[in-house]
Amino acid sequence: MNPGAITEVRDLIVRVQFDEDQPEIGEILHAQSPNKGLLLVSSLASGNMAVCLNVLEDRSLQKNMAVKRSGKGLEVPVGEITIGRIFDALGRPLDGKPFQDSKDVPKRNIFKTPLSTMSFKTSAPDILETGIKVIDFFAPLLKGRKMGIIGGAGVGKTVLTMELIHNIAKSGQGLSFFTGIGERIREGHELYDTLKKGNLLGSTCMVFGQMDQNPVPRVLVALASVTNAEYFRDEKKKDILFFADNMYRYIQARNELSTLLEQVPSEGGYEPTIFSDVKVLQDRLSSNENGSITSIQTIYVPADDLSDPAVLMIQHELDGTIVLSRKVAEQGIRPAVDLIRTTSSLLSTELVGERHYKLSAEVQKLLQKYESLRSIIAIIGENELSPADRTDFRKAKELIQYFNQDMFVTEKIMNKKGQYFTRDETLNGI
Ligand SMILES: Nc1ncnc2c1ncn2[C@@H]1O[C@H](COP(=O)(O)OP(=O)(O)OP(=O)(O)O)[C@@H](O)[C@H]1O
Ligand SMILES: [Mg+2]
Repeated sequence: MNPGAITEVRDLIVRVQFDEDQPEIGEILHAQSPNKGLLLVSSLASGNMAVCLNVLEDRSLQKNMAVKRSGKGLEVPVGEITIGRIFDALGRPLDGKPFQDSKDVPKRNIFKTPLSTMSFKTSAPDILETGIKVIDFFAPLLKGRKMGIIGGAGVGKTVLTMELIHNIAKSGQGLSFFTGIGERIREGHELYDTLKKGNLLGSTCMVFGQMDQNPVPRVLVALASVTNAEYFRDEKKKDILFFADNMYRYIQARNELSTLLEQVPSEGGYEPTIFSDVKVLQDRLSSNENGSITSIQTIYVPADDLSDPAVLMIQHELDGTIVLSRKVAEQGIRPAVDLIRTTSSLLSTELVGERHYKLSAEVQKLLQKYESLRSIIAIIGENELSPADRTDFRKAKELIQYFNQDMFVTEKIMNKKGQYFTRDETLNGI
């Protein structure tokens, strides 16, 4: 294969001219630069031009440098060897421990979607108990389904996600993948330490592309992580839990890349192909005849605006969303779940059973009444309510307090022991 030559380096975008022998989209190219830059072919332009992403942000790239084809896509290690470890978007370990890379380590191209028949298992619905009352009751996790945790800055999305990973790892209900997209690197360390202390690393794998990194790894990290999850689902017939924090940052990173690639934005400032990209990612997070992927995705809400097109787009793919609210947090309730806006399409008799379903309908009714009574009380005071209304108002207040729960992952900062409730305990309590 004849090498190509760099014709332009502009920020993270590098143009490489080839003669006859054009690379493929998604192929990795090796620049013959002092830092041995890796280029990922993003698109092909006329005149045998490959438009590439400067994956490692190699600043030593220059015009006319030779670029060799690898004939391979971007591959990351998958399988047993990744369990209990932390990787970056390119499959390089981040935990400082040695990694025996060899021919025997299975690798997968992160852009390649496995051939699967995408059929849901029709067996009885499996409820995954989280031990967190408010989730198990209002937005229960079901095997193979997708849940969102949505909220503005600092309302507790990451803490709740970590608690879920902790509790699910502890109860041994599956293999968990944590994907950190565009968030704080410190949080990754905290999660690692918590899991290590609880001896729970054996059922987790973590992949990070964090906020201090350029948009390329922040986009690739989600694909790298889902590739490993697919491997365990298809080759090892495992049930997987896939946690992504934060899906909004994935869209944001894709948008930054589009700007660099000079694609034209439309809908609310987002470039249209981003939405099909997100759909592809969501479709890969699916179950088939081999195993299931259950996903929990956090969604950052910019300026607390739930109507942001990116937020709506992600929500559209989910079976339900746990809405975290600043108002609830200000009342000192943790987790700060907005009980009325939290919704799930999975709360049906067939999926959660008659008792749970009936209770949830009753609770919703009571909470709705509480909301309207609250505005009445603001005007006329609680004493003017009818005795029945007053009883309901108090009942609702007690119920709201009932969903307050101490977490294991905040034991240190709160100086309180974490609590776990079985589904039965939660339903009985309600
Ligand atoms: N359940 C909880 N119990 C006690 N404190 C909490 C809880 N949840 C959140 N907090 C407090 O709120 C802070 C912010 O929470 P967290 O980092 O989870 O927010 P976030 O929604 O992920 O924010 P961002 O949008 O910035 O990522 C935590 O550092 C912690 O101090
Ligand atoms: Mg967070």
